[in-house]
Amino acid sequence: MAESMQGLKRTHRCAELAVSNIGETVTVMGWVQKNRNKGGLVFVDVRDRSGIIQVVFEEGKSDAKLIEKAAKLRAEFVVAVVGRVEKRSGAVNENLATGEIEIIPTELRILSESETPPFPIEENAKTREEVRLKYRYLDLRRPDLQRNLMMRSQVATLTRQFLAEEGFLEIETPMMIGSTPEGARDYLIPSRIHQGHFYALPQSPQLFKQLLMCSGYDRYFQLARCFRDEDLRADRQPEFTQIDMELSFVDVDDVIDVNERLLAKLFKEVLGLEVTLPIPRMTWQEAMDRYGSDKPDIRFGMELHDVTEVVKGCEFAVFRGAIENGGSVRGINARGQGGMPRKKIDKLVSFAKDYGAKGLAYIAIQEDGTVKSSFAKFMTEEEMSALVQAMDAEKGDLLLFAADRNKVVWDVLGALRLELARQTELLDKSDYKFLWVTEFPLLEWSEEQNRYTAMHHPFTMPMEEDLKYIDSEPGRVRAKAYDIVLNGNEIGGGSVRIFNPEIQSKMFEVLGFSPEQAQEQFGFLLTAFKYGVPPHAGLAYGLDRLVMLMAKEDSIRDVIAFPKVKDASDLMTEAPTAVDQKQLDELGLAVVKTEE
Ligand code: AMO
Ligand code: AMP
Repeated sequence: MAESMQGLKRTHRCAELAVSNIGETVTVMGWVQKNRNKGGLVFVDVRDRSGIIQVVFEEGKSDAKLIEKAAKLRAEFVVAVVGRVEKRSGAVNENLATGEIEIIPTELRILSESETPPFPIEENAKTREEVRLKYRYLDLRRPDLQRNLMMRSQVATLTRQFLAEEGFLEIETPMMIGSTPEGARDYLIPSRIHQGHFYALPQSPQLFKQLLMCSGYDRYFQLARCFRDEDLRADRQPEFTQIDMELSFVDVDDVIDVNERLLAKLFKEVLGLEVTLPIPRMTWQEAMDRYGSDKPDIRFGMELHDVTEVVKGCEFAVFRGAIENGGSVRGINARGQGGMPRKKIDKLVSFAKDYGAKGLAYIAIQEDGTVKSSFAKFMTEEEMSALVQAMDAEKGDLLLFAADRNKVVWDVLGALRLELARQTELLDKSDYKFLWVTEFPLLEWSEEQNRYTAMHHPFTMPMEEDLKYIDSEPGRVRAKAYDIVLNGNEIGGGSVRIFNPEIQSKMFEVLGFSPEQAQEQFGFLLTAFKYGVPPHAGLAYGLDRLVMLMAKEDSIRDVIAFPKVKDASDLMTEAPTAVDQKQLDELGLAVVKTEE
């Protein structure tokens, strides 16, 4: 039977108690972690979000009835314990923050009982994630998740503090809006009053924050929930949180400066780590050429080498064909991997194919200097040694080459580089390497839509010196856009915005919008820009991704209280669910079943 806590008041969280409390009478409340009954001597570990404290019920020290009651406790019962803090009579537990002390109780109340939980509430549980997510409220009791969510809260608090001190105003923007052009699919909300019309949930507060600049708020920020209906991965959720900001009268360097100081503060205060400022910067072009990625992981080398010139004259049809089609041949040197068994190399080839490669050519240099290669027979000896030299290779190295359009070559080798680093354990989660990637291309050709699309979004400012190419070679125009990358993850991105109506119209034209279409979709912004718009720029972080890396987790699900799974459903509430016919009728909706 559950007892009341009336008359009791918690004095401490369990692990807030320390040697300095010895001799005090305290009251703790929490969950029973475990209880060991040694006959007349009962050890009960009580847990709350701070940690665990041991309570010892012992004959001669505690009332016999109390000991009997303690013996009946089971895991996850909620209890209140009043007692005296004492130095441990038994051995000190080095693994516990409170390992030198214990509570000798004078009172025990069972505030609520618990059935046996479907999995043990403990650190590093090996329970399947589906089960954990179904009982997320229990999963969230586990110390690892509690630490993660406490860290997330700390990051949010420090961010608010820092930005407020820097003159940013926290302003909320609506959740029920018209479509924003962030590039993903929208989540829609049907309107009851305007049947057949829909709100969209924001993919980001982009347009509203730009309007706030027009309204003179100067520096805005928000911890904004964003919604995107896209394929989910370990670093993507359908709803996620941005640290979103916008600043007036600034250029790229100003945005970078305030954000570097924000990151340094977060890493210092949360992890005790110094971020060396300034954070290095690399242009998009250099990032692609050196790492095959616009979010390079610079914790390790294994950079790409462009060997197009070296193999230009060779007979190997794969290389020649790629070069003749305007592509390139590039390679990476996996140092010390020359002895990799053929089977494992074949696995790398199929890995490369998953990333769009037609194949992967290799040279495996054995320790004795002999060479195994998939294409040596098509090359002269001179050509081979020139290639080995260009790759800066030595005995024992494995050289891997991709020949194709640049985009394919970059994708393949960029991914392969990461895969090899994973396999050879080059990735240290406590080594944090930040990088700004700048000067992104303004536009990206979409095969699917047969037109240019904005690489960041349509409001991103082109670099002034490239404006002259906008009609003749749109693909060559670089943008005043930047991403902040941490250990190979894009943790944030932003840009300087267009505030000049002529450039904005040009941009819409290049993107294939007619003036009428542009007016229809973004009319309010274009009109706002007619009434005095300050130059402005901004950036948004994925808060979940940032905290995931700070917490050294592999998935953002581990830093989100109630995340969704790969098919965008919530295993606990079972959302999305069917709704009543009455609700559909009110909204004027009919469901056309297309698939089960
Ligand atoms: P962008 O689309 O690059 O920019 O988003 C900013 C950051 O948000 C994070 N992010 C996500 N995190 C989890 N799940 C997702 N599905 C997801 N999608 C994005 C990433 C990304 O870097 N309005 C612009 C910002 C600006 O220009 O100021 C924007 O939304 O970490
Ligand atoms: P093939 O002549 O097609 O048997 O290919 C010879 C070698 O070149 C094999 O090791 C293939 O995996 C490799 N190869 C094929 N296409 C490519 C490509 N586009 N880039 C790099 N290597 C390739």
